[in-house]
Amino acid sequence: MKNFELSKRLTSLPPYLFAEIDRQKKDLRDKGIKFIDLSIGDPDISAPAAVIDNLYQAAKNKENQKYALDQGKQALRASISRWFLKRFAVTLDENKEILPLIGSKEGLVHFPLAFVNKGDYALIPSPGYPGYRGAAVFAGAKIYEMPLLEKNNFLPDLDKIPESVKNKAKIIYVNYPNNPTSVVAPLEFLKRLVAFCAKYGIILAYDNAYSEIYFEEKPLSIFEVPGAREIAIEFHSFSKTFCMTGFRVGWACGNENLVNGLLKVKTNIDSGIFGAIQDAAGYALDKEAVYMEDMRKIFKERRDFFVQNIKNKTFKNVHAQATFYVWAKLPRKFKSSIEFSKYLIQEKRIIATPGIGFGKYGEGFIRFALTCDKQVLKEAINLL
Ligand SMILES: Cc1ncc(COP(=O)(O)O)c(C=O)c1O
Repeated sequence: MKNFELSKRLTSLPPYLFAEIDRQKKDLRDKGIKFIDLSIGDPDISAPAAVIDNLYQAAKNKENQKYALDQGKQALRASISRWFLKRFAVTLDENKEILPLIGSKEGLVHFPLAFVNKGDYALIPSPGYPGYRGAAVFAGAKIYEMPLLEKNNFLPDLDKIPESVKNKAKIIYVNYPNNPTSVVAPLEFLKRLVAFCAKYGIILAYDNAYSEIYFEEKPLSIFEVPGAREIAIEFHSFSKTFCMTGFRVGWACGNENLVNGLLKVKTNIDSGIFGAIQDAAGYALDKEAVYMEDMRKIFKERRDFFVQNIKNKTFKNVHAQATFYVWAKLPRKFKSSIEFSKYLIQEKRIIATPGIGFGKYGEGFIRFALTCDKQVLKEAINLL
């Protein structure tokens, strides 16, 4: 069989972090070795029972068995608009400013194809969600990694971006509450970010996938910042908000011109989201406010328990402000996050994600995902 070479585009990407971790897990399973998995942000909590019932009923509807409209169902867009108004006091026109997605990753990765030309710069956070890198590379962009440093509370220092990069930048990805560092962005920073994008004509792709996983201050929508609608598109996900990762549904919203560009890309790639999933997603937004409250309580209890027990024991610096991630500085004796994660797997049978996998400025840290119950966390704490 002829061995076709992969495209330069693909070979220029590092192995997708979670695919690599999956391989390690499979290895352990094949050897019959038990392990504790704190590596992937896939919640163990069930999606709301009524949403699943709704999905089952909706699947029987013959209309839902056909291709779905590219723009998403009117009813789902209306639910998103109502929820957005209630949650952020932001009005979105459901006919022009909202686009349902096959999960937010799909939209985040396809979006640059609409606006970024070969050679434009894409500014991506480091550490950051690995999807942004693929998005930039697929669109032919040059990548500039913005360091998210502990001393800056994991916010990018926009003043440090070289003038030559800012002038050629087309898009900036920003994500708060942040994966992997867990921090929430203050309004002051978001105002500076919007002013920065407006000044340099940069599109702001604001990833708000974790907007509902907070424990203290409520995360903001970028559209709570005056002027944001001129330059921003915001991404939301049902994956984390309703523990619906497998359903594959999310949405993009905001600037009409940006939303339209993404729609145009999508009409060339996919043929909509299964109608029953759209119905179930709309139902979740309309009816499941209490579910979100309960979910936050569970994640907060886990966070408090885990952090109290690992802080000042194995780890000195531990960050766990929002999301279900804990971002911890490596114990001193370990030189790299890969070395530490290997040690955790081999000696403790715990799988966690090495910081370097999120970009070079993630080095020196490890990420724990608290996506298993307290009993399992207790076992992990005892081993750590
Ligand atoms: C920061 C961030 N954005 C987006 C996503 C993608 O979520 P989904 O495609 O499931 O909506 C994830 C998933 O882990 C994430 O961590």
